[in-house]
Amino acid sequence: MKAGLFPGSFDPVTNGHIDVIRRAGKLFDKLIVAVAVNESKDAMFTLEERTELLKTVCKGIPRIEIICFEGLLMNAVKTFGTSAVVRGLRAISDFEYEFQMAMMNRELDPNYETVFLMSSPSYSFVSSRMIKEIVKLGGDVSPFVPPAIVEALKRKHKHN
Ligand code: PNS
Repeated sequence: MKAGLFPGSFDPVTNGHIDVIRRAGKLFDKLIVAVAVNESKDAMFTLEERTELLKTVCKGIPRIEIICFEGLLMNAVKTFGTSAVVRGLRAISDFEYEFQMAMMNRELDPNYETVFLMSSPSYSFVSSRMIKEIVKLGGDVSPFVPPAIVEALKRKHKHN
């Protein structure tokens, strides 16, 4: 069985992430969506909240499993027995960071490949960072994230 692992902060999950999950899911027998700690970002949602929100919005997508992990991505890949890491690529600006991460991960463990899916054009400009900024400034993010995420963002914003 060939399984892929799609890691990310998902803080919060966007329609762009869901598009990648649906498309990557068709390439593998099973896709593990792995919610991670990104040491260089301050998260709005806790690891548990991000995982629960992903489970809610991905209900019904076949052959996926949603997990969370702490520590090195390459350890998670080994633990879950997946053969490839999946990442979405939006624009040239993503490339340098993704290239560096893929190369570093390959140095850490050459047994696993990173495969990239180009984002669908309608999501190529959507990022979790911008979603959070728009919400903080009172804008409408409903075209870019599922309704459950709009609600979660409103709740979080109210309590901050
Ligand atoms: O959605 P993001 O924030 O771009 O995802 C980045 C993520 C979480 C995949 C990356 O930060 C990661 O792999 N973190 C786990 C720790 C790790 O392995 N760091 C070394 C990467 S070379």
